[in-house]
Amino acid sequence: MESVNLEVLQRFIRLPGILLILGIAACSLTGIQTPIAKPALTVQPAQAPTLRSLAQSRRFYIGTTVNVNALRDEAAYSATLAREFNMVTPEVSMKFSETEPQRGIFTFAQADYIVAFAQAHQMQVRGHNLVWYTDLPAWLTNGKFTRAELITMLRDHIITEVKRYRGQVNIWDVVNEAMGDGTLRDSIWLRGIGPEYIDMAFQWAREANPQARLFYNDYGGEGLGRKSDAIYALVKGMLQRGVPLAGVGLQMHISLNSYPNQKDVLANMQRLAALGLEVQITEMDVKTQDDARPMQAKLAAQAQLYGEMLQTCLSVTACTAFVMWGFTDAHSWIPAFTGRPDYPLIFDALYRPKPAYFALVQALSQSTRVGVK
Ligand code: G3I
Repeated sequence: MESVNLEVLQRFIRLPGILLILGIAACSLTGIQTPIAKPALTVQPAQAPTLRSLAQSRRFYIGTTVNVNALRDEAAYSATLAREFNMVTPEVSMKFSETEPQRGIFTFAQADYIVAFAQAHQMQVRGHNLVWYTDLPAWLTNGKFTRAELITMLRDHIITEVKRYRGQVNIWDVVNEAMGDGTLRDSIWLRGIGPEYIDMAFQWAREANPQARLFYNDYGGEGLGRKSDAIYALVKGMLQRGVPLAGVGLQMHISLNSYPNQKDVLANMQRLAALGLEVQITEMDVKTQDDARPMQAKLAAQAQLYGEMLQTCLSVTACTAFVMWGFTDAHSWIPAFTGRPDYPLIFDALYRPKPAYFALVQALSQSTRVGVK
């Protein structure tokens, strides 16, 4: 059994601590699964630490993306979310197709629901995302627009959405995944406006909310390499042009077979921090489907990756948040995207903590970090 934090484990098994410890000790000594005695006492375990309480005591943010339907319909989802996290990112509710399904007609009900939940639970919200190459409404992708029209439409979209959440959403993924494998990715924005669409988007977001911290967010550039170098050059140039860029989001969508090594992630975070930028891990999940090992081995390897990436972030002052792309295997984008089952997150589909959860608890518990604000 993974070396787990007994206090934390108590949370998930409704047993007084002493019985739980005796039960586990009996199992480990005899190596057999002795049935744990019926609880004789009704003493409640002391309030065991949660990811949220551990993060907050270090003035750090630990977060997850939020599926608005699960938040609305599943009590276990909303309870776990409020208990374990102090930062949320709407998974789709703030995207272009969701918020402006028809030109000039805005629909914010789903995003409002998530923002209201976050406000009620003192959580930070990462607005996601204002400009992306995909998930765009048909009126935009099917239309024929001049450069001036595209500029007007994108500006109106950004100003409307960012202004609406001023004071409630103060971190935005302004531009998402603009980088291909080393050059800018083709998109309606790049073709129709030119590469300056990136700088413009940040200027408009700044105009709409002067207090917001504006991020560039991408995947595949977490460690060192061609794409990481291209992102570094992009954001360095933006800063040199006076673009109001506050930070870079490293998405960290990885798998058991493909992930950046910890020292490259550290070096990349450090060089971005040396530019005066914040760094956040913004979408971590660890795909398990391409690994043929037994599930127990896969879960242990998955836990190691989660723990290492959090440790790396905690070791860099400029790394201010660690956000995962979901928290329960019941709600991950990966099975729908790949057409195969997967177990990429830190709670299983029944909201039981996996080894990865305890690896994050351990990384936070061992961190001596005290946040900057
Ligand atoms: O809500 C509709 C539903 O009414 C309809 O029946 C169903 C079938 O068509 O689609 C539902 O919308 C889907 C939406 O997720 C909500 O589940 C969209 O089709 C689907 O494209 C959308 O996928 C999301 C994807 O971004 C595109 O927005 C994924 O959930 C989301 O996890 C994924 O997240 C991205 C980040 O934003 C950026 N980084 C990569 C990450 C993973 O791709």
